[in-house]
Amino acid sequence: MESLDRFREFMRRDRTFDFIAEKRLPFRYGHTIQPGKVDTSHGTILYLENLSVSFDGFKALNNLTMYIDDGELRCIIGPNGAGKTTMMDVITGKTRPDSGVAYFGQTMDLTRMSEFEIAHAGIGRKFQKPTVFPNHTIFENLELAMAADKRVWPTLVARITPKQRERIEYVLEIIGLQEQVHRPASLLSHGQKQWLEIGMLLMQNPKLLLVDEPVTGMTHQEMDKTAELLKRLAGDHSVVVVEHDMDFVRSIANKVTVLHEGSVLAEGTMDQVQNDPRVIEVYLGE
Ligand SMILES: Nc1ncnc2c1ncn2[C@@H]1O[C@H](COP(=O)(O)OP(=O)(O)O)[C@@H](O)[C@H]1O
Ligand SMILES: [Mg+2]
Repeated sequence: MESLDRFREFMRRDRTFDFIAEKRLPFRYGHTIQPGKVDTSHGTILYLENLSVSFDGFKALNNLTMYIDDGELRCIIGPNGAGKTTMMDVITGKTRPDSGVAYFGQTMDLTRMSEFEIAHAGIGRKFQKPTVFPNHTIFENLELAMAADKRVWPTLVARITPKQRERIEYVLEIIGLQEQVHRPASLLSHGQKQWLEIGMLLMQNPKLLLVDEPVTGMTHQEMDKTAELLKRLAGDHSVVVVEHDMDFVRSIANKVTVLHEGSVLAEGTMDQVQNDPRVIEVYLGE
């Protein structure tokens, strides 16, 4: 009995324990699990293990296994049809795998979450084609991106808290569009629209950003700026970039993963993968 009292005393004193008891959460890995917060205590933010996806018998993903570190900037390359987009579809809940594991941090099973839940949990995806609101200013676009609930849009523009304004200023600085802030998005160059869209994703403060072919159609100058932007995001965010342009990949990549026929063909530094005979063969055969 005495030990039970001491246990209760301990529970009273320790607010973390109260929190867990209240939420009926289990202790795991010796630390607290916070609901809705991605658990990267092992240093990994994304676990993909033995993922397979078939379309009419064709294996778009075939036992794909890959891990992304918390705060990492990873580049994914691979010939057309390698499964890059399908991989992103599985991560974002758009496509369900036939088999395999996809976890966001230690605790969130992506294969059991809806697209909305996954976005809400902190995974943002930037598609190839920018989808900004052309008739709204840069500022308004960022403002609109803050509200997940689109019914509040009409009222939102009138009311914005100092904290929200601060967030917008911060994102504007990262995407380098401070001077264009009151111009309509339709007047932006292609590259600037891409940055605005990244900015719109950042308004939700995602932990993991998936970016599909960000520099297609960009000038060299815009590509350099995009490289700086993505490098800056790493650390605070984990970023996964699918890109065809090898010079661009070289300019940002620490670690490159080469996909081929739905599996990982090679992984390493840009020099390592470019000198890998299997990678050379796949690209020459394209
Ligand atoms: N919804 C789908 N239905 C049928 N086949 C698909 C579908 N999505 C992708 N595929 C096929 O799966 C393979 C991988 O496609 P994808 O993931 O788009 O490759 P990548 O993005 O690397 O070019 C391709 O052969 C593609 O034709
Ligand atoms: Mg693709």
